[in-house]
Amino acid sequence: MNVHHSFSSIQNIKTDLAIFFCFEESFLKDPAFQEMDQELSGWLKKTIKTDGFLGKKSQSLMLPVYGKLGMNRILLLGMGSSKLVQATDFRLAMVRAIRMIGSMPIGRMAVIVPKDKKWIDSSCIQFLTEGAWLGSYRFDKYLTGDKKRPMLLQEVALCFLTSEFAKFPKAVVEEQMMRGKVIASSVIKARDFTNEPASEMTPERLAKEAQKIGKTSSHLTLEILSAKQCEALGMGLLMAVAKGSELPPCFIHLAYHPSKKTTKGTKRIALVGKGITFDSGGLAIKTPQGMMDMKSDMSGGAVVLATMDAIAQLGCRHEVHAFIACAENMISGKAYRLRDVITSMSGKTVEITNTDAEGRLTLSDSITYALQKVKPNEVIDIATLTGACVVALGPYMAGVMGNNQKLIGELLASAQDVGEEMWPLPIPDFTIDNLKSDVADLKNAGDRNGGALTAARFIKEFVGDVPWAHIDAAGPSFLDKDWGHLCKGGTGFGVATLVQYLTSP
Ligand code: BES
Ligand code: MN
Ligand code: ZN
Repeated sequence: MNVHHSFSSIQNIKTDLAIFFCFEESFLKDPAFQEMDQELSGWLKKTIKTDGFLGKKSQSLMLPVYGKLGMNRILLLGMGSSKLVQATDFRLAMVRAIRMIGSMPIGRMAVIVPKDKKWIDSSCIQFLTEGAWLGSYRFDKYLTGDKKRPMLLQEVALCFLTSEFAKFPKAVVEEQMMRGKVIASSVIKARDFTNEPASEMTPERLAKEAQKIGKTSSHLTLEILSAKQCEALGMGLLMAVAKGSELPPCFIHLAYHPSKKTTKGTKRIALVGKGITFDSGGLAIKTPQGMMDMKSDMSGGAVVLATMDAIAQLGCRHEVHAFIACAENMISGKAYRLRDVITSMSGKTVEITNTDAEGRLTLSDSITYALQKVKPNEVIDIATLTGACVVALGPYMAGVMGNNQKLIGELLASAQDVGEEMWPLPIPDFTIDNLKSDVADLKNAGDRNGGALTAARFIKEFVGDVPWAHIDAAGPSFLDKDWGHLCKGGTGFGVATLVQYLTSP
């Protein structure tokens, strides 16, 4: 697919489908709307009446115009009141439009960009571009024959009406389109990694994907630690989790180095992603139902890799290090057991009380390695960590915890900016009681109640005083249906927020 822009008049738009955004209070008076209506001899206004289209949020109306005006169809998308519209709503509207056209024979789409300058100031063009790419996403590589419906949409044109030309400096438009394309393609990478079956997306394969990304930019450097090296470094928790699998674990360290000239306000940031390529639960085995989506247990790692891919293209003033401990949590005669006592890389000992609480184990060794290796000013981890977080916040929202309110606040603000739902959760003092062991410094799982908080508390014990935020994205990483701009299956949730956080001035 190709997304481009053009400056033209309503009459000159040649397309299979023209999209027009309707703000409830004003679309009837919009000159572009009136012009279309006139060219169609008042038919547009009439159809709106008969169909009860008012421009309400998520209302839509598609009408064929049989090549009048150079368009075959017009799609009116209700946006609700312009006072309540957020820039990210344009991404959602684009995604919905593309879902709506489904398998209709529409090869070319023209999007009439809303003319109010406030939208371009709030990155509307970036979000339209993102929406075009994300809406067309399909994971269809394993479909064959008729099942593999080719994507018919080949071209999306963002049309700026000539009369409004001066309001849209070409450089700004192009910058936003570039940003939208980079972010969307990174989100799509994360989705692809997550959707790949666990038999394919093994620890080794995840490392290979990191390698591919590492090669794309001179700003990126990559180090992969083998199982042997992880063992030698004392990553006891990672090794314990991986013991039941035929596949050896590995450890990814992908680093982004900014250009030397931008040193003002530069931080060294560690991003840590959970990289469990399949979570059977281990000996504390999951139910078939509970195991069903567990190929997605590496989506935190996928998101971290995709974020590195994006910032390498967009540029970032911070030095950013991505760490992913990759392993499979399986069941066998070699698997780690309940009440085994494991020595972590930090030296702390952990009594295993649930082999299904494996994410906090691999994350803790990852964080210890990050702290020792690069001494970051800040640590952010993202993980499909607990079912309890899904119970607390539902499937579409991630929980954010940590030890530093400023960092948490900034992350939440970034999430808000890009339309990913994240909500703060506490790490109360009492959570430590759930982690008290008689035989080791900590145990890895306690009470079911407040499970998301206890999991965060476990990680906190390994972070120390370094500012740290933890994103539990167990809900939104993998969905059982399309929701908003997120899609069924792997969603790439978190990429947009992390990129926003890392690249904001
Ligand atoms: N990967 C799971 C968490 C998960 C559950 C992610 C559902 C996505 C959807 C994690 O490793 C896990 O099994 N957590 C346990 C922790 C418990 C044993 C303390 C859980 O949530 O049940
Ligand atoms: Mn688990
Ligand atoms: Zn897991």
